Amino acid sequence: MRKWLPSSFYNPITFVGSAISGISFGLILFLVLLESLSSEQKPYMGIIAFIILPGFLIIGLVLVAFGIYREHRREQKGKHRDHFLPVINLNDPKHRRAFTIFSIGTILLLLFSAFGSFKAYEYTDSDQFCGTICHKVMNPEYTAYQNSPHAHVGCVKCHIGPGADWFVRSKISGSYQVYSVLFNKYPRPIPTPISNLRPAKETCEQCHWPNVFYNKMEKKKVYYLSDEENSRMALTLLINIGGGNEASGVTSGIHWHMNIANTITYLATDSARQVIPWVKIQSKDGKVTVYKSTDIPVSKEQLKSGNYRTMDCIDCHNRPTHIYNPPSSAVNNMMAAGFIDTTLPYIKSVSVQALEAGYSSKPVALDSIKTYMEEFYEGNYPAVYAQKKEAIEEAIDKVQTIYSRNYFPSMNVSWKKFPNNIGHLYSPGCFRCHDGKHVSADGKVITKNCTVCHTILAQQFGNQKPELSLQGVNYKHPIDIGDSWKEMNCSDCHGKN
Ligand code: HEC
Ligand code: HEC
Ligand code: HEC
Ligand code: HEC
Ligand code: HEC
Ligand code: HEC
Repeated sequence: MRKWLPSSFYNPITFVGSAISGISFGLILFLVLLESLSSEQKPYMGIIAFIILPGFLIIGLVLVAFGIYREHRREQKGKHRDHFLPVINLNDPKHRRAFTIFSIGTILLLLFSAFGSFKAYEYTDSDQFCGTICHKVMNPEYTAYQNSPHAHVGCVKCHIGPGADWFVRSKISGSYQVYSVLFNKYPRPIPTPISNLRPAKETCEQCHWPNVFYNKMEKKKVYYLSDEENSRMALTLLINIGGGNEASGVTSGIHWHMNIANTITYLATDSARQVIPWVKIQSKDGKVTVYKSTDIPVSKEQLKSGNYRTMDCIDCHNRPTHIYNPPSSAVNNMMAAGFIDTTLPYIKSVSVQALEAGYSSKPVALDSIKTYMEEFYEGNYPAVYAQKKEAIEEAIDKVQTIYSRNYFPSMNVSWKKFPNNIGHLYSPGCFRCHDGKHVSADGKVITKNCTVCHTILAQQFGNQKPELSLQGVNYKHPIDIGDSWKEMNCSDCHGKN
């Protein structure tokens, strides 16, 4: 046989090695081609095309080198071979059969591995993969996500986004996550905020770009108090979302001030970014104002630490999809929608208490909720219990649904650990800065004016005539707490404490 290459190349190990490398390389080319033909960005494809397959490619190359080295040593010892491959004689029926089987097998194998890697790549890109592969660990995020406005937006769209560098970064932290799950080293709950989350500019703005921002949005809200009658209050809020651009001309509202016209930088003294003593705003024309809290002390070291953050979408929209509702609002919504009978005495209060009792596991919780609510009515309202058994069972079922969606005892997840920064009722949210206590050197205060962010178009108590006004009605707190709702943050009473 005429040899094209030095004779030490011709040995079985080198041959196998080249085959492995060749196939891997072919598959990589195949996936890259597929990626360039597909209209969508599929960040996870790279795991296979650029991490797993190259691994095989390298193993193949190592084998090639090892084979050459071994053959070379052998040659030096004088043991030379004439042929490195078996001689195939197609006139021999045995050889012919073996050859046919081998060739067809190889072709099938190649086809299948092409198909297999395609499937694998599709799968790693899916939300089931993200949400369930680390099943227990990310179950809360996955469940919340499935019930959110972004349920059809892939995890990778927000958590990785397009482009190679973030893909690699996410793989590096991803490998650590796999390690921590395998060795049970992960924190419970998974900490928030995510310190290395990709800037919102590159993720959210794939779909919501700043200049098409929205006008005003009307929101209707219904609340029930914890008294026997479950007294009702309804509010219609007109939220001044705003935004806009030079062409369309809408140049006001929350998004405009906070996101387009100005750059806001702040310093948080806790890892959850809930305590903000220092805020700086720089307007488009370069004017800088610094606000300091008169309430929260800030030390020189903290100011020097450099833990400053420039405000972006996530500083308000930190729960666009993993939303864990506080019990009061979840029960209010179920009652307002008619899923829980509002004529059951104390149903609001009982439901909230059943949810908040603190349970060791989900099955225990679901059981205890049932027992707790049944015993309450059986013990305190036997007549109601007898007459409205069905409504009570229905209410129990709904409270259990709320629990399943919003509480994850195995991961220590609930609304208390994951404050929502939109609004200011159950967590400080906007009032982290807009508490009326952040003052600049020249005495300007970050506003707490109730009509800057929204107008209350209507407020109604029970079935009384609602108070209506396009200019906004003055807010009345549903129970008399004097002026403390003007002075304190709402979340001081309504929050987790
Ligand atoms: C609409 C965008 C979006 C989608 C889609 C999305 N996430 Fe998130 N995710 C976020 C944001 C924003 C945060 C919180 C970031 C912060 O506060 O730093 C977050 C946080 C998390 C956290 C940390 C814990 C927490 O709640 O803060 C995990 C884990 C997580 N997401 C997993 C997933 C999984 C799994 C999926 C898909 C099933 C997914 N995410 C889909 C935007 C998204
Ligand atoms: C792949 C596209 C996509 C990405 C990326 C995305 N969103 Fe969305 N977003 C949507 C869709 C679709 C809706 C639902 C629109 C609707 O219901 O009208 C939505 C709705 C919203 C809403 C309104 C929610 C509500 O309660 O009605 C907010 C706020 C929002 N997104 C913020 C974000 C933020 C913040 C990010 C980045 C972390 C983000 N989105 C990333 C597609 C996306
Ligand atoms: C200062 C806080 C703040 C910042 C920063 C912010 N938003 Fe918003 N955004 C709001 C509020 C408040 C609403 C009203 C929604 C509500 O009350 O649920 C809103 C509403 C929205 C909506 C829903 C509009 C609708 O009509 O349903 C989208 C989408 C949205 N924001 C996207 C973004 C994106 C993308 C960014 C980053 C470029 C961003 N927001 C930055 C506070 C903010
Ligand atoms: C990190 C601090 C911070 C947070 C959190 C924050 N803001 Fe602001 N906001 C500011 C600063 C600073 C200004 C500008 C004050 C000035 O005019 O100098 C401002 C201004 C505004 C304005 C314009 C006020 C005016 O007088 O016209 C609106 C509207 C607004 N914010 C809405 C919101 C909403 C809604 C939220 C919560 C979803 C929020 N902000 C959360 C710091 C913050
Ligand atoms: C910095 C902006 C801002 C200021 C100032 C502000 N709010 Fe709000 N408020 C919001 C946002 C944003 C929401 C959230 C709406 C939503 O849930 O989508 C909200 C929600 C509410 C709600 C409904 C609560 C809920 O979550 O169901 C009430 C009531 C309310 N505000 C009253 C007030 C009163 C009273 C004041 C004056 C003391 C005030 N707000 C000042 C931004 C503001
Ligand atoms: C001093 C404590 C305190 C402060 C501050 C306070 N509240 Fe309340 N609030 C209460 C109490 C107590 C109730 C009655 C709770 C019940 O009956 O379930 C209540 C009830 C409510 C309810 C109806 C019950 C619900 O959660 O469904 C709303 C809405 C409400 N408050 C809004 C606000 C807003 C908005 C602010 C801030 C501007 C605020 N509160 C500040 C103590 C407070």
